[in-house]
Formats: sequence, structure tokens, C-alpha cells
Amino acid sequence: IPVDPFDLVIFGGTGDLAQRKILPALFRRYCAGQWNDDVRIIAAARSAHDQAGYRAIVAESLAQHAPRQAADPGNLDGFLNRLQYLRLDASSDDGWENLSGQLTDLRIRAFYFSVGPGLFAPLAEKIRQHGLANEQTRIVVEKPFGHDLDSARALNATLASYFSENQIYRIDHYLGKETVQNLMAVRFGNMLFEPLWNSQYVDHIQITVAETVGVDGREEYYERAGAMRDMVQNHLMQLLCLIAMEPPAKFDSDAVRDEKLKVIRALDPVQPHHIVRGQYSGGPDGPGYREAVGNPRSTTESYVALRAHVSNWRWAGTPFYLRTGKRLVARSSVINVIFKDAPHSIFGAEAGRHANTLSIRLQPNEGITLKVTIKEPGQGGMRLIDVPLDMSFAEALGPGNQEAPDAYERLVMDVIRGNQTLFMRGDEVEAAWAWTDPIIAGWQARGDVPKPYDSGSTGPGDAELLMKRDGRHWQGIK
Ligand code: BG6
Repeated sequence: IPVDPFDLVIFGGTGDLAQRKILPALFRRYCAGQWNDDVRIIAAARSAHDQAGYRAIVAESLAQHAPRQAADPGNLDGFLNRLQYLRLDASSDDGWENLSGQLTDLRIRAFYFSVGPGLFAPLAEKIRQHGLANEQTRIVVEKPFGHDLDSARALNATLASYFSENQIYRIDHYLGKETVQNLMAVRFGNMLFEPLWNSQYVDHIQITVAETVGVDGREEYYERAGAMRDMVQNHLMQLLCLIAMEPPAKFDSDAVRDEKLKVIRALDPVQPHHIVRGQYSGGPDGPGYREAVGNPRSTTESYVALRAHVSNWRWAGTPFYLRTGKRLVARSSVINVIFKDAPHSIFGAEAGRHANTLSIRLQPNEGITLKVTIKEPGQGGMRLIDVPLDMSFAEALGPGNQEAPDAYERLVMDVIRGNQTLFMRGDEVEAAWAWTDPIIAGWQARGDVPKPYDSGSTGPGDAELLMKRDGRHWQGIK
């Protein structure tokens, strides 16, 4: 369904995110016919480029990040013709009058802050000062949304002094992933799972986001952030919310975000012995973390595993184990729901006991597997084994659906549609920091040093112990 005509201003138009994600996403949506010629995209940044020079840069990015669509010269020209470059400085008045002259009255106007958080406030102020905000203005801000609770609060307060909450779109790109949205479809679109979705039937839940990449190119940011701030406070927290939340009355922004907020607020503080930090060491495929960031004494974690508790009626007693790390053995984001054993085995102890496991694979090889217990074939009495009931979305949906849209395609179009459901609300972000801060403060107070782990491994051995102590084990990463 085509969206209404809009003007979109991307601050940081020459930056990595704009070139790698935002512009390719807009381009793919253009090729899909979701918006047409009545749209204006203005990329703004500090460097000097003429229109042709900037368009050539973008053409190259599109060829790399949306190659199939960029192979069609008609598509490419059509898109590039909608794109203007504007030289603009957030810290001075240069360029702002020019920008004002390019915007169309009385239509949707979105400002995408694809810049460091330090520029959010100056940009918001300039937009107001130059009268660029209209009734239909939205602003889009990227993570990291703050560094801790205090900075997130300050940022929320600053933005709130220029825009109302329903104009602010805080991105967590995990929410834009097709498979992450599918979590809600699986939970609330099927009668099968929801009645069992509680501590009476679920033994525990594992949320794994494993990456093979290191910190290349982002050393400075990452050294200050670490995995807890970079991944757990936002992406893993969002996954946890979607898995644990109560059914919202409807799929609208406040109903969904109210329920997510309740989950975050119900989280217990994490005990120090329920959390493991790790840092990768070098291997054949590259240098170790400390070498990569050029700090031989770095205590920043590139891996976190922890046990969390959602203390509410539904989940009391069911632990949620979260883990994420860089330079691990495989790229794999998966949620495993491990159900309890049947209360009584009618086949006797020798048959073995098996728990059902529902695995929701978010990436790659998106799909769902349910481990079901059956009889081992043969004559030797009744022995039980697990077999997978396996569905790959690519196979189930057929060839026309092989190319899942990138998260940014969905999110940018939702900004234009004015749908905030897949964006984080200010109170949600603050609640997530309120849970994260004491964990980080504890590490700092204790002078905690992350455990080294081999690049290409499944993470530090202590993460296995975290599970073992509870009589459980991690599901495989591959
Ligand atoms: C980003 C983090 O938000 O998400 C990165 O800053 C991480 O460190 C990335 O690599 C993972 O995203 P994806 O979509 O590749 O799973």
C-alpha cells in the first residue's frame, strides 16, 4: 500500500548508517512501489558535495547494499532524482534557510537524526528555531539512546522540550526484523502456545544473539559501551519483552508498549553470580579484543551471559537466560523455550525423559523447530527420543518470499505512516537503563575483569557453569 507523500531529511546523509541501511531501505521501498515521485529526500551533512557527486556516492552504496534493485537503471535514476544533497551544520545557521526552502508545506515531514547523540539536541533546537516543524513532523533517533539512566533521562527531557512523545521515533532495529515481529504472530496468533506460556509449563527460556563479527571500525564507541550497553539493554531486552509480555488488547503502539514496559519493570535486579562477562582473544581469523581496540588493559566486555527473572504472576520461578557476544562460532539469533518434563513417565525410568523445546530462529535460516518426543523405532521396548518438527520460513512461504525485507524498510515506512508500535517509548528506554545501570555499576565497584574466550568459540566456560549450576545447559549455537 503506497504511503502518503512525504519529505524526509536525513541528517548524517554521508554517514555509514545512511549509506548502508537508510538509503538502501528507502530505495527498496521505492522499487516496491511504496512511494513514488511525489516524495523528497534531502540528505544533509557538513561536507561539501554537489548533487551529482553525492548521487554517485549513493549509487555506489545502493549497488552494494541493494544490488538486485540497483541493477535496473530505471529504478536507480528514478530514486536518485528524488534525492537532494544539502550542506548543513548543526552548530551554526549555515544551510538552514536553504533547507527550509526545500520543504513542502502541509505534508508529512520526517527528520532522521542519523548522527551521534551529541547532535540530537542542537538539531532539535535548530528545527524549532527555523520553524521547520509542522503538525506532521516526526523525528527519528538512533541508538545508543543514552549511556545510562541519567543521560537517557536528560535526552528524553531535551527532546520533549521540542517535540511531543508521539513525534519521537526511537529506533531499535531488532523490532523491525520480520522474524522479531513474527514472535508476536506466533504467540498471539496461535491457540497452541499461549495456554502453555507460563511458569507452570515452561522450565526456562534462552535468548541467544551470537555474532561472528568483532568490533572492527567501531572501536571507540564499543570500548565505552560494551556488550551490556550495546546489545543487552536494547535488542535482547526487546526480545525478552516480546516473549514475556501479556497479550496486549490490540496491536497498537501504546497497548504493546505498555505491556513491554510492565515486563521491564518486573525484572529483578541481577545477582552478581548470575552474570558472566567475556572478552574475545585473538585467533586465526583476527586479533583479540584488546588488540583491536588498542587498549591492552581494556576491561570492556564483548560477551555477556546472564540469568534474569521476571517477577510476576506468569513467570515467577522461570529463569530467562540471555547471552550475546562477538566473534563467536556462528551468527545465530535464536530463542529457545524449554518446556517442563511431563509430570509422570508412564514408560518407566529406562524410557528416558525428554522435554519439548520450541526454538524460534530469528536469523539466519529463519524458522521454528519444535522438538517432540516419540518412540525410538525398533523392538527393544519403549524408549523415547526427540525429533524435530522443523519449519523454515523460506521453504514454507515459497520462492516469492525468499528476500525478507530489511528491518529499516519496515521502520522507515512506519515513521511515514505514523505508527510507533515498533519504536521504543521514552519510559521503556529509561526502565531498561534502570535495570542495566546497577549491573554495570557493580562491575565497576568490584573492578571486574571479563573472562577471556577464544574467537570462534561459544564464549567463556563460566557461561556454561552458570547453566550447569542450575542443572541446565545452553542449546547449541549453530
Ligand atoms: C547493533 C550493535 O545495534 O546491532 C552491533 O551496535 C551489532 O554491535 C548489531 O553487531 C547486530 O545487528 P544485526 O542486525 O546484525 O543482528
